[in-house]
Amino acid sequence: MNKINWGIIGTGKIAHQFAEALAGTEDAQLYAVASRTAEKARKFADKFGFSNAYGSYAELAENDNIDAVYIATPMSSHYGDAMLCIKNGRNVLCEKSLALNLKQTEDILAFAREKNVFFMEAMWMKCRPVFLKVLEWINAGMIGEPRYIKADFSNYIPYDKNDRLFRPDCGGGALLDLGVYPLTFADAVFGAPDEVISSAQLRDGVDVNNSIILRYSDGRCVSADNGFQLQLSNNALVSGTNGFITLGNWFHCTSEAVLFNSDAKIVEKFVCEPEINGYEYEIREVHRCLRQGMKESPLVPHDGTVRVMKLMDECRRQWGMTFPEEEK
Ligand SMILES: NC(=O)c1ccc[n+]([C@@H]2O[C@H](COP(=O)([O-])OP(=O)(O)OC[C@H]3O[C@@H](n4cnc5c(N)ncnc54)[C@H](OP(=O)(O)O)[C@@H]3O)[C@@H](O)[C@H]2O)c1
Repeated sequence: MNKINWGIIGTGKIAHQFAEALAGTEDAQLYAVASRTAEKARKFADKFGFSNAYGSYAELAENDNIDAVYIATPMSSHYGDAMLCIKNGRNVLCEKSLALNLKQTEDILAFAREKNVFFMEAMWMKCRPVFLKVLEWINAGMIGEPRYIKADFSNYIPYDKNDRLFRPDCGGGALLDLGVYPLTFADAVFGAPDEVISSAQLRDGVDVNNSIILRYSDGRCVSADNGFQLQLSNNALVSGTNGFITLGNWFHCTSEAVLFNSDAKIVEKFVCEPEINGYEYEIREVHRCLRQGMKESPLVPHDGTVRVMKLMDECRRQWGMTFPEEEK
């Protein structure tokens, strides 16, 4: 079986994690890496064993030997980087949040369809066995009818105006960086809500914490707190008419989920430690899709990405938060 030739765009924190997972994936070829500076690309390539290092993203995007490109740049760059790759016929796995807003997201996905390339948001949570087990329990009716979700994602991160997380021009803020996980989790279980109620504290143009409630006309409800100012336990709970499910610390990448009955007694515990560092599951999903000629992953479908982006647009609308890119 031919290996899948991977190219990585951007050499920051998550690119390192991803490269480590790629290096441990048997049918992945570490083919190329691109940075805005040739030295960084060369250093990264040498560290992980990539065959090619480019000092511009365009050089990588134009290389027809590359089967899949992983985009690991800040949110504000995703649109340009994704369009560049798609224009050149590359299949793409693009980091979350896929873009700054719904308009960019829809444009990217429409262009991917037009050019007939595979495109997937790197929503690794949705590819992890624990997440899939939780959906399996819910779909099998193990907690009855799901009615309520509580999912938080807040890490204490000291304010640094130079960090992409706090920079409006990088698409910063807790919503797009962290809130996308609880919202994606809620969307996977409940779908689109009827009402969004949210508030946020903004600092220098980005949300440093936010609280989001999603309401459904039949009474179902989601509550999510996200931010950079407090360390929360980052658990998730799905409660139904006949039991509940908990996902532990760092729910979006946890190795364990627990199923309880309505007496709060444990019915089943599912544990699945990552084989490498957890990113291997999304890599395998891309490989599976490419080998089967799919243009979209059934695990991370485009319409889910779009619904979540719509929610995030609505939250920012309620807060009066726009990115500089949107003010042009
Ligand atoms: N899946 C996950 O678990 C996870 C975790 C963390 C982050 N992420 C996502 O991954 C993306 C990157 O996050 P990160 O934490 O790796 O960020 P980071 O450490 O700041 O790295 C981003 C990289 O993007 C490139 N870049 C291009 N334009 C840039 C700009 N204007 N400013 C700064 N860097 C720029 C840089 O690479 P070059 O200098 O080499 O061009 C930089 O090293 C974000 O979309 C984030 O949401 C995902």
